[in-house]
Amino acid sequence: MTRKVIIDCDPGIDDSLAIMMALSSPEIEVIGITVVAGNSPVEMGFENAKKILKFMNRLDVPIYKGESKPLKKDFVNALDTHGEDGLGESFLPKVEGYEQEMSATEFLEQILMKESVDMIAIGPLTNLATLIQRNEQAFNNISRLVSMGGTYKSHGNCSPVAEYNYWEDPEAASIVYKQMSKINKTIEMIGLDVTRKIVLTPTLLEYIKRLDSKTGEFIQKITKFYFDFHWEWEHIIGCVINDPLAIAYYLNPEICTGFTSFVQVETESISRGQTLVDAYSFYRKEANAKVLTQVNMKEFFYMFLERILKKERNELDLLEELL
Ligand code: RIB
Ligand code: CA
Repeated sequence: MTRKVIIDCDPGIDDSLAIMMALSSPEIEVIGITVVAGNSPVEMGFENAKKILKFMNRLDVPIYKGESKPLKKDFVNALDTHGEDGLGESFLPKVEGYEQEMSATEFLEQILMKESVDMIAIGPLTNLATLIQRNEQAFNNISRLVSMGGTYKSHGNCSPVAEYNYWEDPEAASIVYKQMSKINKTIEMIGLDVTRKIVLTPTLLEYIKRLDSKTGEFIQKITKFYFDFHWEWEHIIGCVINDPLAIAYYLNPEICTGFTSFVQVETESISRGQTLVDAYSFYRKEANAKVLTQVNMKEFFYMFLERILKKERNELDLLEELL
């Protein structure tokens, strides 16, 4: 049975790979993509989402522009990481048309007041926090919420303690985590503890290109800038592709393990955006998050390649030795 999913994103290179993976997964029906200011300004993210849908020949999927800035903090993009076009300076041609008649939060409210669907959030949580402020009941109707964000024991990527999505809009993240407490639900937190283990290497990229030159060339085009960034800043040969792991985990929760815990998001001072994971229950509060800490990296790459290359597992016979 296919599940209806809305992807909230800030494309963004790894967001684009996540969208490609989601659209290649028969288990899910992407009923909408909502864009939020993050890696790219929201207008750019909207255009980039269109470019990915065009490559995937899926311009049937509606896209909605969301919030253009965080709830309180100044907007800080991540174009230094994703390139001046937000897609690795691939400078793909603009996709004409495709204007939507409503905002992201209007779309989310309309859908969620009609039916309960799942959400995979792979950008700052500004759209979701705005939805809570606009119509709590709509937000509460989200049946499953997977968020790429935060970090437990791994160091931050925006500060020693904060991951970009939650650092960018800590008020939004705090509102969402508090709302999960209020409705006794748990957000599934795919943080840097697990995503840092997911590195697309030059060898893996070459394998993808050998198996499917069209898809491989496209991925190379949008990730080259990201490879260079990772070498320059983290001396990594390859690039950490955070967001596709949120898709893989949504599809197969067994790919990661972790624990449930109360989590609070810091909004002020030098630790802004830090996810304070109360793993030892000092605060005696009910869990509002499932914190994922271990990942089966091999299984991820099998899932990723099976879907974006439309291959059976037995056709990926070389993969294991390339990891
Ligand atoms: O910290 C990594 C996250 O921030 C990813 O979702 C990346 O796309 C950026 O949004
Ligand atoms: Ca993202």
